[in-house]
Formats: sequence, C-alpha cells, structure tokens
Amino acid sequence: MKLKKILNNFKIDFNKPITFREQMIIMSVILAISCLLFTVVYFAAEIRNKNITTDTSEPSQLPESSVSVPESQYESSEPSNYNPVSNSESSKNESSENKSSEPSENSVKQEIKYVSKDYDEIYNGNLILVNKDYASHHDGENTVSLMDNKSSTYGITDNSVYVDSGIVKNMNNMFDDFADIYGYTDVMVACAYRSYAVQVRLYNEEVDKRGDDREAEQWVAPPGFSEHQSGYAFDLNLSIENGVGGIKYDGTGVYSWINQNCYKYGFILRYLQGKEKITGYEYEPWHFRYVGEAHAYYIMKNMITLEEYIDIVHTHSIDNPLVINGENGEVWHVHYIAAQDGTTKIPVLKNYSYEISGDNFSGFIVTQKVK
Ligand code: DAL
Ligand code: ZN
Repeated sequence: MKLKKILNNFKIDFNKPITFREQMIIMSVILAISCLLFTVVYFAAEIRNKNITTDTSEPSQLPESSVSVPESQYESSEPSNYNPVSNSESSKNESSENKSSEPSENSVKQEIKYVSKDYDEIYNGNLILVNKDYASHHDGENTVSLMDNKSSTYGITDNSVYVDSGIVKNMNNMFDDFADIYGYTDVMVACAYRSYAVQVRLYNEEVDKRGDDREAEQWVAPPGFSEHQSGYAFDLNLSIENGVGGIKYDGTGVYSWINQNCYKYGFILRYLQGKEKITGYEYEPWHFRYVGEAHAYYIMKNMITLEEYIDIVHTHSIDNPLVINGENGEVWHVHYIAAQDGTTKIPVLKNYSYEISGDNFSGFIVTQKVK
C-alpha cells in the first residue's frame, strides 16, 4: 500500500506539460542510474587489476599485458624433414603452423613482462652467429682455462686451451658420459678459444699451404670471423699413446656417439656435410659449438645449420613462438625480437624463467622452458 502511494506520487501524466517537480524526479532517476553504473564498472576494474600481480624485478616502463600462445603439447613448430615434436603428436599437427599464429581453442593466455637490453647486447650470448658475414665481438673476456676446470675423462693438447666459462660443465658431462659408456678417455680438445692474433697466424699458414686465400677460407676463417674467437667452439682430436694429440678426430666408430649425442649437452656440429654453401666451410666432424640444449636439439634433429636455425627463429614472435618439444617431455618456447636503437624492451612470458641471447647482427632471441 505504502509503495503504491509512493509510485502514485511519481506518476507522470504525459498529456500535460511536465512540471518542474516532474523534471526534478526524472533528473534524479537518471543521476541515480548513472551513479550505479559507474560504481559497477569501477569495482569490476578494481577486481581485475588485483588479479594481475606486479613484478618489480625487471625495469619495465611498458604496461604488462597478455598474449595468447600455443599450448605446447598440442603445437608443433616448423615444417622440416624431421620434426622434434614427440612422434605421436607431430603427425596429428602437420598443419599447425597456421594455427599457431592465431589464438585457438588450444591457446592459453599468458602474461608477459618486458626486459630491457642495450643494443650492444646483440653481440652476446650462446646463439650469436659468427661466420664470414658476422665477426666475433669477443676476444676471450669470459674464458677459463680448461686445464684447471676439466674432468679427467678427456685431454687437452696443451695448457693454452681456454673456453667460455659457461660451457665447461657441459663439456665435462659429455666426455664423462662417453667414458662411462665406452671406457675411452683418449678424446682431446685440440683447440677452443682462439684469439684474433692466433687466427691471423693460422690463416696465414693456411694461405701459404694452399697458395690461395679463397681455398684457405674453406677451412680456416679469416681473422675476426672465427667462431673460435667467441669461446663457444672447440675442435677434437685423438691422443696417441703418450697422451699427445695426434690423430685427426672424424667422429666415426665409437666416437660417433659424441657426434650423435652432443645436442644433449647443448652442442652442435657446426659445419655439416652437404651444407658447405650455407656455412662457407668444408665438413668438419671435429668442430663443436655450444648453443644451448633446446637449440642444439632442434638443430641436430633437423640436421640444419646455425644459419638456417637463426632464419627460422627470426620468423617467430612471442605470440607465435617456435615450440620445441624435447625428447624427455621438456617444452621450450623460442622467439625473436628485432633490436631497437638504444634500448629494446624484450617481451618474455612472465611465469617462466628466460634466457636472452643476441644473434650477433639484428636482435634478441628469448628461450623459455615452459615444461
Ligand atoms: N675452422 C673454422 C672454420 C675456423 O677457422 O674457425
Ligand atoms: Zn674448429
């Protein structure tokens, strides 16, 4: 009854001109509805913001956002002669190349954050491409003596063998496992980091030997352009009885285990047979290069060169990463971003640790183990 009375009070007869009182009632109703709507929208936004935690560990001036990335176990990555996606999944996903560029049913929302890198950092990291086009910007800064750090399962030809400090553990593990399996400890690291000065000497010797610099450059890199100068490469040799290196290592017989399993330790065979035109060098079964586990796996299983791999990675951004499914169930996402002048804000998936390497000429490659 009371409510009816109130409503009757507000009853507006539209046949008569609207009185001042009626105008006030209409205005009040509109104002009340607006206030209500504003309150609802404001609280909804507050609740959403609370769900996004803020990360203070990275210097990010860009707002955090989210992208859809393919759910790893359903997505393959690149069309190639060998697909390192687990066999059971790869055949089902032959056409998933197109799928991964757009969010799909199999996509999951991932939060991203940004990591800042100066332009010069494109010259650092385990994925730097050093070849006849791209010089090494390093000359031994981060190297350590292999003599002081190596395990007893392999040798070195002399005390001057140095390698990047980050790869010693991987070398030790590889040669320890080889010795465990076959009982052989006669593999020797003949040469690893080479200074610019040493490369000048070797190059000149090779030119003298072959009588032609183009011929020499099929085997020895021009000074400044050798991967050995980066500290990430090493050559193998086999010892003769007294432990002095002498026999050329060709990766056959029991030693083929090393060439076939090096990827498990993050190494690749850098100069492959049949890829001479791409690498610029003859087949070198003794020359290994560290790139990291995920990349080594993809490269060696697909039998491609680092040049080809970098080209592939360049086509993958954070919302369309190269998904690498490892043989033990690991899943890595790899993506590229071009370097900007000055500082580059590199997007990474927020909930996973990341590694960022320069490619040595144009930008940054992010690797994240998501499983
Ligand atoms: N033998 C390789 C290509 C070098 O000299 O770096
Ligand atoms: Zn070499």
